[in-house]
Amino acid sequence: MVAELCRPGTVGGEFLSPRVEQALRTVPRHLFIPEADLEQAYAPFSPVMTKRDEEQGYVSSVSAPQIQAMMLGQADLRPGQRVLEVGSGGYNAALIAEVVGPEGEVTTVDIDPDITARARELLAAGGYDRVRVVTADAAQGVEEGASYDAIIVTAGAWDVPPAWIEQLTEGGRLVVPLRVRGLTRSIGFVEHDGSLHSTSALMCGFVPMRGADDHRETLLRLRGTGEIVLSFDEEAPEEPHLLDHAVRTPRVELWTGVRVTLRELIDTLQLYLATTLPGFCVMTVDPALDTGTVAPNSTRFAMAAVEGGDFAYLVTRRVEGEELVEYGVHAFGPTAEEFAERVGLRVREWDRDQRGGPGPEIRVYPVSVPVDRLPEDLVVTKRHTHVTFSWPTP
Ligand SMILES: C[S@@+](CC[C@H](N)C(=O)[O-])C[C@H]1O[C@@H](n2cnc3c(N)ncnc32)[C@H](O)[C@@H]1O
Repeated sequence: MVAELCRPGTVGGEFLSPRVEQALRTVPRHLFIPEADLEQAYAPFSPVMTKRDEEQGYVSSVSAPQIQAMMLGQADLRPGQRVLEVGSGGYNAALIAEVVGPEGEVTTVDIDPDITARARELLAAGGYDRVRVVTADAAQGVEEGASYDAIIVTAGAWDVPPAWIEQLTEGGRLVVPLRVRGLTRSIGFVEHDGSLHSTSALMCGFVPMRGADDHRETLLRLRGTGEIVLSFDEEAPEEPHLLDHAVRTPRVELWTGVRVTLRELIDTLQLYLATTLPGFCVMTVDPALDTGTVAPNSTRFAMAAVEGGDFAYLVTRRVEGEELVEYGVHAFGPTAEEFAERVGLRVREWDRDQRGGPGPEIRVYPVSVPVDRLPEDLVVTKRHTHVTFSWPTP
């Protein structure tokens, strides 16, 4: 498992420090996942799901080793530090305990008493009973162990509750899978004067946070054929009825000439579109109702955008004879051709100016800071914070 995680090109592998590697070699992962056989327990890129809820589906898991290693690396943990883990499984807290050593202190918190009971038992059995296990909604942080040099959040968050910033030491690190405009990135932040500044943002997937800061997207099912659902994370269209006739118009197709290899990571393209296209959303298609009106590469996720009565989504097609795909746009609505052009322009802009680059600098400010004092290009306002994005100037 560790050899696989250290292989060049593994996502987040550049963050794998010798300390984290040593911890991965030390803690017996299978003892923390009695539900799994050895092969599942040590599969480098797969989580093991541990609890399912009738209504919400999976609500807890032990995350994939690759994600755990990546996030511990993003947190830049050092011996002697005090660390809070949000979302408990046992194994990850044991890894953190190994990295911070006997002089450090680890607190793990979970909202679900079944999960904390499981974690407490497994940590004790593994010899890690010095990890403090707390049952609470982490939206309030955990006073007992504060302040923290690092907080590592292992559930998908839509916002950063004020307690997480308040309970960090000056210059402390927060690593959080944060969802903005439907896209989740594990973002490594450093605290600076009550705000957070990103140092890395990597692709990941997580079970969502429950409790006080639970947040659901606004879903818009397009009228007409009924299979198209657009999901908006922050700002939903003010006049959704304008889209009522969109799918009755013929589909406009535009190919951008932007080609990527099948292996190339295009996560900055997703973020670029999400932060530069007004009306960005995620399109899903209900397979039971599918009439073929739209033809995304996946019915479960397509980047999309709406503007007035038009909507468009991104597609790719294989380039014949080559290991490449080309990006294209499908658009509908009264001015679909112009809209497809505008969306295509953003893809070409990314290709020209940002492809292969470091991605945006992401900052988080308390919502009390007036927006006009924020210098950044794009501000997304949430319940507790403004999340801002600045792309490098080409
Ligand atoms: C992916 S699991 C945690 C994995 C764990 N860190 C590990 O060892 O890999 C996410 C956990 O977050 C917990 N969770 C969700 N919302 C929470 C909240 N508001 N406060 C604390 N825990 C929460 C869930 O109950 C779930 O057990």
